[in-house]
Order: sequence, then C-alpha cells, then structure tokens
Amino acid sequence: MYPEGNTGYSYEECRATADWLMAQTALRPLVGLVCGSGLGGLAELLKDQVVFNYRDIPNFPQSTVHGHAGRLVFGTLKGRPCVCMQGRFHLYEGYPIQKITLPMRIFKLMGVETVILTNAAGGLNQDFKVGDIMIMKDHINMPGFAGNNPLTGPNDERFGVRFPCMSDAYDRELQQLAMDVGTELGYGDFLKEGVYCVVGGPSFETIAECRMLHKLGADAVGMSTVHEVIVARHCGMRVFGLSLITNRAVMDYDSEEKANHEEVLETGKQRALQLERLVSTLVTRIGHNNFF
Ligand code: HPA
Repeated sequence: MYPEGNTGYSYEECRATADWLMAQTALRPLVGLVCGSGLGGLAELLKDQVVFNYRDIPNFPQSTVHGHAGRLVFGTLKGRPCVCMQGRFHLYEGYPIQKITLPMRIFKLMGVETVILTNAAGGLNQDFKVGDIMIMKDHINMPGFAGNNPLTGPNDERFGVRFPCMSDAYDRELQQLAMDVGTELGYGDFLKEGVYCVVGGPSFETIAECRMLHKLGADAVGMSTVHEVIVARHCGMRVFGLSLITNRAVMDYDSEEKANHEEVLETGKQRALQLERLVSTLVTRIGHNNFF
C-alpha cells in the first residue's frame, strides 16, 4: 500500500501503541502536552503519575537532545486527565517526519481532544525580548515548501482528510483564554502573540536567513512544533502553542551576539515556572468552559 521509501505508520500500528499504553493505565487523557527544550518541568506538576520511558513504548522514537528527558507522563493537572511528552522529536535528529509526529496520532487514539505545545524559539520581532512568552497565532512551514510535510504519503481517512485546512490551526478561543489568564497572573509585560516559523536546523540561522524570515512575517523561529500541529489538526484535535523566546535572532552584521543552546536552556530555566503556571491554569479553565 505504501510507495517505496514511505516511512509512515499505519493506522493499525498507531492503534497498537495506543492500546498498549491504555492497557497499562486507567487514566484517559483529554489534554496532551508537549514540552519544549528546558520546559519539561510541566510534567512534574502532574499528580498520580504513570510514567513510560520512550524506549519502552512500541514504535516510539527516542529523544536524543540534551534538555529533553524522553518520558511520556500520564497524570492529572488540577483534576484534569493529561498526558505529557517530556521531550519531543525533531527533524534534525534524523527521524523521518512521520516518526516525529507519531505521538499526535497516539494522543488522538487515546481520546485526547486538546494539544498544548511549547517550544524554545529565537525572537525575530524587534519588540520581543529574551524571556517573552509568545502565543502562537499562526505558523510558516519552511520545510513544507520543500516537500517535507508529515502528511506526505498515502492518506488514511480514519485520521483525517487528504487536504486539511490550516487557516484555523491555532484555536482562537484558547489564544484569548491564554491572554486573559496571562493578564490575570500579571504576565502582561512579557506575554506576546505572533507567527512561528519552523526551520530544519540543527544549525542556527544566518543573519541573512533571519532577515528573510522576518520580512516574510515570522515573529519567532524554531525547529519544532509545526509538524506536530499539522498532524494534530489533520486528526481534529484543538491546538494551542506557546514559544518561549530564549534568544534574539541576530539580524545585524555589527552584532556580537551568537545563538547557542546553553542560552536557550538557561532562559528556559528562568521563565519555566511562569510558563508552567500559565499552561496549568489554562488547562483548568478549559474545564470551566465545559470543553470536557
Ligand atoms: N533558531 C532556531 N531555533 C531556536 C532558536 C533560534 O534562534 N532559539 C531556540 N530555538
């Protein structure tokens, strides 16, 4: 059924992984969380945890990046059943794009309705500062323009349609709710919104590339999230995304600044608690709105 070289997983393979997980925990998550670089602390907030190492889950890839734990954590966040990926997969690790996004389909088959994704990103918007939290309102899929889209290959209608809409990828209600929650928590000064652009990495962008991405309308640049968003929307889950601005993209030839992974992790540590608080409060409010 699959053209040669296609590295997708069949519906049955996804189902087998979902069933394997559900056989080992009675918890039925309605919210799926994906933690970005240095932001894995979110998982620690979950109560009554059931934890799986990625290496023990059938079909699951393993996380190879420093700052990503590689555990799937089930638990409740203020009473709401959640599943949390502590560590995600990236194109630059060398995985086929379908493998990176496999967890979204497993989320769906376990009953997840809303996915909340976080990431570390470089700020292209000149008004953004290091430590700002950006609510994702849209994305630019750079690898997608070169044919690298996670939905490439045969389409299984049990997941979704062949040509899914992406103009409504980021749930507007959740964006507004996050803005309201952030304002209440006193985060108004550093809570922003904008467009996230994904690139393949792992090398950071050149000055010319940053200038180009900024001109194209991107406010932040990173190496993740968008592939997962596409697959999550394809199978009908609601999506919300947050970028932590861990560094300012270098846009100027006179600048002495250099992007580096240590800076990304350090900023993550400093803002992580506030970002976690924003997400956990948001999860509770989704409940108040009777989405569950
Ligand atoms: N570029 C790409 N990815 C990133 C960056 C960046 O500047 N910062 C954190 N992730």
